[in-house]
Amino acid sequence: MIRIEDLRKRFGDNDVLKGITLHVNQGEAVCIIGPSGSGKSTLLRCVNLLEEPTGGHIYFKDTDVYMMPPARLHAKVGMVFQQFNLFNNMTVLDNCMAGQRKVLGRSKEEAREKALSYLEKVGMLPFRDARPEQISGGQKQRAAIARALCMEPEVLLFDEPTSALDPEMVDEVLNVIRSLKGSLTMMIVTHEMAFAADAADRVVFMDDGLVVEDAPPKELFSAPKNPRTQAFLARTLRGLSL
Ligand SMILES: Nc1ncnc2c1ncn2[C@@H]1O[C@H](COP(=O)(O)OP(=O)(O)OP(=O)(O)O)[C@@H](O)[C@H]1O
Ligand SMILES: [Mg+2]
Repeated sequence: MIRIEDLRKRFGDNDVLKGITLHVNQGEAVCIIGPSGSGKSTLLRCVNLLEEPTGGHIYFKDTDVYMMPPARLHAKVGMVFQQFNLFNNMTVLDNCMAGQRKVLGRSKEEAREKALSYLEKVGMLPFRDARPEQISGGQKQRAAIARALCMEPEVLLFDEPTSALDPEMVDEVLNVIRSLKGSLTMMIVTHEMAFAADAADRVVFMDDGLVVEDAPPKELFSAPKNPRTQAFLARTLRGLSL
């Protein structure tokens, strides 16, 4: 579904992605973990055309994403951000309708119907008329996920969807993401190791602009092969049993 080949990205003389190769199959949920600054956000941003790579290729179903009109790619590949990125001057419902109207050209009635059904799916129907400032962080993120789902993408990218949330709201968002498993292809950058361990089909460990290890979660968490993965997990999992 997504094929990343030898992807490189440099900012000035900072080599951030040093040749990432990563394939994600249809319906898979792939979690990406790794230390701060290892290039995880940059990788997702390249997939979604928010950064232009310095080298390599990214294919969506065998089409180079940089050959696709951005609106066409964005209708197929959605993204959910750490900071929600909702429009603050619009209600939750209007947030969910805007992209459908603008990018997909759906009628008001159809956009509204879709929005209501996806808001229900994430448990946000009761808040449809609220503005983002009136709801909690967890509710904002669930609204942002509903907004992304309204576009009926084939791939959804998540960049640390729970790291701006108070701890008691993390699970409500992770449960929504879990409920999407199998229905679309997902790439999820996360620091939630317990979530990656039980929800991912594969876990990718990135360090210093490279994919260091790529394995099913059981393997990666209980028997990491690379010493850098071992060191990262030793630091991160201290006191956490998966
Ligand atoms: N627009 C930019 N201009 C210059 N440098 C950038 C830009 N975006 C990212 N970088 C640099 O790229 C490197 C990787 O950043 P990136 O945000 O991809 O890391 P990350 O793995 O997502 O980290 P974190 O876990 O903290 O979110 C960092 O050194 C960062 O300073
Ligand atoms: Mg990041």
